[in-house]
Amino acid sequence: MASRIPLVAGNWKMNFDHREATYFVQKLAWLLRDARFDYHACEVALMPSFTSLRSVQVLVEADRLKIRYGAQAVSVTTQGAFTGDVSADMLAALGCTYVIVGHSERRKYHPEDDANIVDQVRAVLAAGMKPILCVGESFEERRQGIELDFAVGQVHDVTRDLSSDQAAELVIAYEPVWAIGTGMVATPQSAQEAAQAIRADLAATFDEDVAERVRILYGGSVTSKNAVELIGEPDVDGFLIGGAALDPDELSLIARLT
Ligand code: G3P
Repeated sequence: MASRIPLVAGNWKMNFDHREATYFVQKLAWLLRDARFDYHACEVALMPSFTSLRSVQVLVEADRLKIRYGAQAVSVTTQGAFTGDVSADMLAALGCTYVIVGHSERRKYHPEDDANIVDQVRAVLAAGMKPILCVGESFEERRQGIELDFAVGQVHDVTRDLSSDQAAELVIAYEPVWAIGTGMVATPQSAQEAAQAIRADLAATFDEDVAERVRILYGGSVTSKNAVELIGEPDVDGFLIGGAALDPDELSLIARLT
């Protein structure tokens, strides 16, 4: 069975300018170094705004920090007359390891759906980075009792167009929309059920090896108070964190607990 290294990823959303981002990364690196954190046992990644990526890259490379970083979105286009867009190649040139794709806030506020999300996933993979594919149900789907089918369907709508090698590079973040920013964290059991159902679909679509290699994160009101129970579930491989990732002390504590 593939041994999956947990990933604790912070999605800063539209917070921190490049100066604040630089301070945060230095503080987080110091806290983790002070705690003798083992990056081989758990990966830590930050997803700042586009405007901070170069500053984060310079700091990480200059100080040889083990914190990885990435972007919160990407354009499917590569270059040309696409005002305001950012290509995967541009993000790769800034040393990004990960790119969040299909976050519920992107699906809500931008014309992003499963059709162009698979193109985003392909663009990220082609540029040598790892997509973090976000899926998750709303209150309505949960009220109807179709939350597992809904989340698995979102994954399958993307993975059915990928090769096994491409799928093996995916990170999937199960983020029930009703838990994002609300303080209403999913129970460990429901997070496990979703992760297990997603992994079963990966095994059916590809094979057991791919299914075992893909890391499935939980996102939605994760804090240091609930992280231990959640990471204790066998198919939960880490977290995609919003609010708690804006505090270096809290984020370093969650990473140490994972
Ligand atoms: O992408 C992670 C984010 O949506 C979760 O936000 O504030 O509930 O941790 P939060």
